[in-house]
Amino acid sequence: MRVISTERSQILAARIAGALETTVVDVQFSRFPDGELYLAAGELDDETIIVGSITDNDALVQLLLLIDACDTSTNWLVIPYMGYARQDKRFRTGEPISARVIARLFGRGVASCITVNIHEKKVLGYFDIPASNISLASEMGNYIKSMGLDDPLIIAPDDGALAFARDVASAGEWDCDHLEKIRLSGSEVKMGPKKLDAASRSVVIVDDIISTGGTIATAAAMLYHQGADNVYASCIHGVLIGGAYAHLKANGVRDIICSDTIERGCSRITAAGQIAAALRSG
Ligand code: R5P
Repeated sequence: MRVISTERSQILAARIAGALETTVVDVQFSRFPDGELYLAAGELDDETIIVGSITDNDALVQLLLLIDACDTSTNWLVIPYMGYARQDKRFRTGEPISARVIARLFGRGVASCITVNIHEKKVLGYFDIPASNISLASEMGNYIKSMGLDDPLIIAPDDGALAFARDVASAGEWDCDHLEKIRLSGSEVKMGPKKLDAASRSVVIVDDIISTGGTIATAAAMLYHQGADNVYASCIHGVLIGGAYAHLKANGVRDIICSDTIERGCSRITAAGQIAAALRSG
């Protein structure tokens, strides 16, 4: 068994290979003059773990090409970050169910699929192959423990993230609560009033995704307004588009932490251990 990955998931793939005591496959990536993607996989074993986060459209195509390049092997797919998963239903007439479209692309060439903190678990049901999800809540909780904060308050930015926040908080038996978020547009949110005991406390806002940073920046402003001493942000998938990291720092967020499902300078939590465990158990 060997591990192979797209360009965007090389570090996580190497960590998974390390955890499974195997090696990664060398892959050559390039583009044709017209921009089309090209790749060539090195020597494969008879079993392959294919790792690729869908961070953008190129990453999606590269993952599909990689699966085809591995068609002499029995393959297990890992999609650490599944882009398009947030469009998990038709919010307005005429829209596609994008998460379903993406999931259905992976019906051939792989035996099963593992995702990490997928935005909505129901998306797993859109795959034509067995699909399961792992959560890095305990890894995030352990990382927060290592920060040495004095009795932090763990906050979910909305009630959808509350179950995850509770799982994170259970690592240290910390208090946990949620804000109420109203989305105004793709990049703007406002927080509805919610009574929180954030005064004079360190607060860690936890979410599955930080994309533009709008949700966390708004939440942080509200928490500072309520007297919080320090606000931190931690997410699984650091999408961090359009200067989101700087936007959060500029808005007083002391530190931003994410996992390596998307490889960033602030990826301080690894999904490798849990992915390896899930692959081992099978
Ligand atoms: C949405 O429901 C997700 O859980 C995140 O809260 C959202 O994707 C964050 O987006 P942004 O950083 O752009 O506010």
